[in-house]
Amino acid sequence: MELYLDTADIEAIKRLAPVLPINGVTTNPSIVAKSGKAIFALLDELQDVLGYDKLLFAQVLASDAKGMIKEAKQLREVVPSIVIKIPVNAQGLIAIKELTQQGITTLGTAVYGAGQGFLAALAGAKYIAPYVNRIDAQGGNSKDTVLELQKLLDLHCPESVVLAASFRTPRQALDCMLAGCKAITLPVDVAELFISDPAVEAAVAKFDQDWCSAFGALEY
Ligand code: E4P
Repeated sequence: MELYLDTADIEAIKRLAPVLPINGVTTNPSIVAKSGKAIFALLDELQDVLGYDKLLFAQVLASDAKGMIKEAKQLREVVPSIVIKIPVNAQGLIAIKELTQQGITTLGTAVYGAGQGFLAALAGAKYIAPYVNRIDAQGGNSKDTVLELQKLLDLHCPESVVLAASFRTPRQALDCMLAGCKAITLPVDVAELFISDPAVEAAVAKFDQDWCSAFGALEY
């Protein structure tokens, strides 16, 4: 299982990386824009903060395959291990096929349907990112979409991995993992919700109180 944070917020990464067993960080053009930093400088900073054993993902902006491939190579010059995110449309599929042939790892992004994601896997994308919350927000059923996509990959493209993305709630993320997804990327607020149940602190405080009532405060 691979766990990623879907953010370029350096402070949040510094806070959460020691706590969560993350494999790296995913970004998209909106996330990079929100950081206010130039993409190459940001990628350098992310790699420094995360460590060089962690994986970074960045998305191309070009709308044609030739431009996507050019951008992918520029990104790889800055971070040689970076995974290139390519929107799964006609031009994106051409780019994924070509980059795969050149040995460059890709993620098919902006996936709203199981068939669309499956085509990206057939084209050679290592990771496929269904947009869970966005599917639900437009009246779709993300659970069914993710289940179907996972099954298609299990049957026909076992070397590709569903990297489920776009979450608003921990429940949406859990449903993806229960559907068999082997990778997930969480926005900071959803990651924090997994570890912020007030009942936990209340339980720990009560243990402490009971112990102190019987034996006095702990001395170290
Ligand atoms: C991942 O590939 C996407 O860029 C991202 O998870 C989208 O998330 P959002 O719907 O929260 O913007």
